[in-house]
Amino acid sequence: MSDITRLVCPAMTRSRLRLPGAALAATVLATGLAGCATETTTTESGVELVTDGELTVCTSLPYKPFEFNQDGEVVGFDIDLMDLVAQSEDLEVTVVATGFEGIQSGQSLNTGECDVAAAGMTITDERARVIDFSDPYFEATQALLVPADSDVTSLDDLSGQTLGVQQGTTGELYAEDNAPDDVELRVYEDLGLLTQAVNTGQVDAGINDNGVLYDFANSNDTVEVVAEFDTGEQYGFAVQKDGNPELLELINTTIADAQEDGTYDEIYAEWFGDAPTEPSS
Ligand code: ARG
Repeated sequence: MSDITRLVCPAMTRSRLRLPGAALAATVLATGLAGCATETTTTESGVELVTDGELTVCTSLPYKPFEFNQDGEVVGFDIDLMDLVAQSEDLEVTVVATGFEGIQSGQSLNTGECDVAAAGMTITDERARVIDFSDPYFEATQALLVPADSDVTSLDDLSGQTLGVQQGTTGELYAEDNAPDDVELRVYEDLGLLTQAVNTGQVDAGINDNGVLYDFANSNDTVEVVAEFDTGEQYGFAVQKDGNPELLELINTTIADAQEDGTYDEIYAEWFGDAPTEPSS
């Protein structure tokens, strides 16, 4: 098995795998290597790894409290769960920060940038065609963030105004499908730019997942979450499509065990407080 993957893409080297998302995309397109497997190693239990001894995790920053920089280190709810997965195989977690678009399109996984994507990523049918999702590990819904002095409380109220969305996300799709036609959508590459745009009044509102927007509003009294849309989303971790069934299995058993033995609840409480479901506003 691993002999085969070793022969497929001799041109790909480790250093190129560390290029930022955009540069990597350009390399891949220029050389026609899209979807190519890269050199991997295999653990005793059959888990394939792009780097020996490490669980290499792609994420998109910032997405607090799921993944964000704190004192020079990437931490968060997703990262804690990835730590559990890594521990069970005696691996170190290495986080690769990359664009969400490349994560949700499967590109980061296909090009061997990482073994697993942990990015507060919603399981959708469209994505499930190009990446393999773990069992769901978190529930979310879309929400609307506005400046604290705003009169806007719904998408309809935004008629003739601007709405910030994060590129490649379910929030972007929801806004395209549900905002009035005369709302101008402004696309931001990451959540930090989006929340900053709302906070500084560059846009009239921003749409994203409830957990991250409540977290942001809780520490910024210049903004507030005024609406939730019942999109009923579930987050999954992702591995390369048909590329790493053993890793997927390991992730699923690790989450199930953590839910059973209380570890999941402890991690949840650490990042969201003790509230059973929703972060309070
Ligand atoms: N849950 C949404 C989606 O899957 C947003 C995820 C964005 N994640 C991130 N780390 N920026 O589309």
